[in-house]
Amino acid sequence: MSTLTTATALEVRDLVVRYGSGRRARQTPPAVDGVSFDIAPGETLGLVGESGSGKSTIGKAVLGLHPPAAGTVRLHGQDVTRMPLKQRSRHAADLRVVFQDPYSSLNPARTIGQTLVEPLRLLGVRGPAANAKARAALESVGLPGDAADRYPAQFSGGQRQRVAIARALVCDPKVLVLDEPVSALDLSTQAQVLNLLADLRDQHGLAFLFIAHDLGVVRFLAQRVVVLYRGQVMETGPVESVTQAPRHPYTVALTAAAPVPRPAEQAARRAAREALGIGTAGAAKPSPTGCPFVPRCPLATEICSQQRPPLRQVDDTHTACHHAERTATLG
Ligand SMILES: Nc1ncnc2c1ncn2[C@@H]1O[C@H](COP(=O)(O)OP(=O)(O)OP(=O)(O)O)[C@@H](O)[C@H]1O
Ligand code: SF4
Ligand SMILES: [Mg+2]
Repeated sequence: MSTLTTATALEVRDLVVRYGSGRRARQTPPAVDGVSFDIAPGETLGLVGESGSGKSTIGKAVLGLHPPAAGTVRLHGQDVTRMPLKQRSRHAADLRVVFQDPYSSLNPARTIGQTLVEPLRLLGVRGPAANAKARAALESVGLPGDAADRYPAQFSGGQRQRVAIARALVCDPKVLVLDEPVSALDLSTQAQVLNLLADLRDQHGLAFLFIAHDLGVVRFLAQRVVVLYRGQVMETGPVESVTQAPRHPYTVALTAAAPVPRPAEQAARRAAREALGIGTAGAAKPSPTGCPFVPRCPLATEICSQQRPPLRQVDDTHTACHHAERTATLG
């Protein structure tokens, strides 16, 4: 993992997030359990994992939408973790979000222009200056400037996601949290939106926290990746290493599960995945002391149930597995 420099756009350290309150919440495992990463300007960090692994919860904690139980979030070196809302709103322009579903994230009763100028008002930008910025943001995502006068229902799904990206960009942010931004789109629209995001990142030096359940999509945009299971980091490193030579059995399972466009290849992958002997997500609950992947793991031994494996360097990735050196035997 890279160390913090003044150039770090977003730094997350030892993040713990719980839902609920009281004794019952303390007895339930946290949704996010000790996660650390950092992202440099112009860099994309992919955050992948199965449904319920805690990806969106990390996004919400970074955005200040859910308070962490422990850990820190720093934006350009400034600790924003527990900043009062009023003070934090000054940083809100630097840190913006694009959600999966462009249908529900845009207000159907407002024109696109009204939606785009709203965050600018909080920054004190109003009137013609705000309208000009909104039109420029729409043009930067490939939509005509007059799109500002139309309503969300007048756009396709891909166009609406472009509007959501324009809304995120209109305040000139430094960091974007992208929570499954292309999952609701068909494959060709996905490719267009991913290309657009890559261009915008490179033009503006944006840092992306790119959340996805599909490693294939992450591979397109990310330089580094964090693989999450039950709120814990299983593996992290350069995206090529993690996807092409995974060191954690869970990453092997995720790689085999990544969707591919050709049905024959998909069937071959499904057969290969079944041959690995890796259990399904519904497998029995893990013991709190050991590795969370024990009930599903074909490589598990006694030590796996007794000791939680720390993240350790294996080649150029960091992996939380006692037997990472044996993972290649799964292939
Ligand atoms: N508002 C909430 N209240 C209680 N528990 C929650 C809440 N939101 C999420 N959780 C739980 O926290 C865990 C992590 O959920 P989260 O939504 O972060 O997962 P995710 O990786 O984003 O999944 P998905 O791929 O389905 O979006 C899950 O066990 C989920 O049930
Ligand atoms: S620590 Fe053990 S149970 Fe966990 S992933 Fe590695 S081999 Fe499997
Ligand atoms: Mg989610």
